[in-house]
Amino acid sequence: MDKEIYKILVLHGPNLNMLGSRDPKFYGRLTLDKLNKILRQKAKELNVSLKIHQFNSEEKIIKTLHRQRKICDGVVINPAAFTHYSYAIRDAIDLIKIPVVEVHLSNIYEREDFRKISVTKDVCIHQIYGKKENSYLEGLEYIVNYLNK
Ligand code: DQA
Repeated sequence: MDKEIYKILVLHGPNLNMLGSRDPKFYGRLTLDKLNKILRQKAKELNVSLKIHQFNSEEKIIKTLHRQRKICDGVVINPAAFTHYSYAIRDAIDLIKIPVVEVHLSNIYEREDFRKISVTKDVCIHQIYGKKENSYLEGLEYIVNYLNK
């Protein structure tokens, strides 16, 4: 097998460790472990290596972005509720200078008003939402295509 060409960081934000117990209408029925398994399968097909983390705290998300900026080539992030108000995560995404794709399982534009705002979107190269686990799979594909350009 060819050497894996890119290292991609996948970051799941708060409460995503509870997938499988959250409202399936928005988040589907997959557990986080199952979602990660599908992501690893997709990464194999794309010939990239994945580092996957889930954190409930803003600090851990920010520290991981800082640490991984020189190690990883790109990031797929679901900042979860932090999407809507964390300027600190926005600044971290902005400063790391590697491409970041924002993904959401649910359609954040068809839910409560507070979810319609993403403070992180503008510093990401792309945003994908509303496709349940396919949002992540498309996010991974998007970042690999972007890096291949
Ligand atoms: C989410 C949407 C957010 O509004 C919410 O707080 C989440 C998950 C999604 O994937 O649809 O926890 O980011």
